[in-house]
Amino acid sequence: MVKYPPMKEQINTLQTQALAEITSASDEATLEALRIHYLGKKGAVRAFFQEMAKLSAEEKSVAGQLVNALKQAVEEALESRKHQLKANKFTDLDQKEWIDVTAPGIQPPQGHLHPITQIQYEIETIFRSMGFQVFDGPQLEDDYHNFEALNIPADHPARDMQDTFWLTNGRLLRTHTSSIQIRAMQGQTPPLRGISPGRVFRYEATDASHENTFYQVEGLMVDKDISVAHLIYVMKVLLKEIFQREVKVRLRPGFFPFVEPGFELDINCLICGGEGCPVCKYEGWVELLPCGAIHPNVLKACDIDPSVYTGFAFGLGLNRLVMMRYGINDIRYFQSGNLQFLEQF
Ligand code: DAH
Repeated sequence: MVKYPPMKEQINTLQTQALAEITSASDEATLEALRIHYLGKKGAVRAFFQEMAKLSAEEKSVAGQLVNALKQAVEEALESRKHQLKANKFTDLDQKEWIDVTAPGIQPPQGHLHPITQIQYEIETIFRSMGFQVFDGPQLEDDYHNFEALNIPADHPARDMQDTFWLTNGRLLRTHTSSIQIRAMQGQTPPLRGISPGRVFRYEATDASHENTFYQVEGLMVDKDISVAHLIYVMKVLLKEIFQREVKVRLRPGFFPFVEPGFELDINCLICGGEGCPVCKYEGWVELLPCGAIHPNVLKACDIDPSVYTGFAFGLGLNRLVMMRYGINDIRYFQSGNLQFLEQF
């Protein structure tokens, strides 16, 4: 009869130590090292089996059960820790790739229309409400539409007013949207009302008020008995809509070969209300747009009889208009691609 199972204490101590080490093993390599340490051929558990050889048959059977139980406990602990480590791996992955599907999304940066385009669309809407058509025309023009038909013949000194980008084939980048006047009038018979917004090009040195690319809106109205009074009225409606208040205007004589008489239309300075300030150079008035009564030669070039029909035309600079509306002091911002500037609109 075995009173006290042999090796019991050593077995218990080893089991406690083994299980503690195994359950705290931090990775699979450590776990494998522990497996070899305890269960390997020269391992601690195997050592007990060798010890048992020294025992009596009776003692052997009791100790054998204990050692087997130890072996099983160690094996189970190793197996369960292995599973745990594997599961933890997935948990780590889950944490890295975890997505909160209820979190608000990241707003992708969103652009908007350029301030010049914005004002162009506004102007189109205003003119459409007054029955004007919107005409389009090519940026790459020919001499005839840009100059000749507009009463600016080849030797005319007015060509000096517009420095032109010429192409080697004799064509040019349009210097103004007035070229579309010709295209519009040639295709139709009066009464005729239309505007043509677009990009124009000048071969010039740039500074705060000059650019080699800018935007204009050309406008014209042709019918029987059209006078400068109609021009003034249409301009006043336009300015009132754009600036959202009554704007005083005045006409000064101006020379443009395609109008007779020709004018410079000034508006009462919106900054100082006409009192005088740096913006209007203390004059109280700001030059806004050139205009006039369409020259008979221009009507004739478009097969319109000037003894029956008359008309007015104007050329509105869009850059200038945006600059006045927002108090921008350098025209070069528009083409700069400067996002800090553009994001304000
Ligand atoms: N085309 C002229 C320019 O770009 C502007 C202009 C002046 C247009 C008088 C007109 C006008 O229709 O009547 O400088």
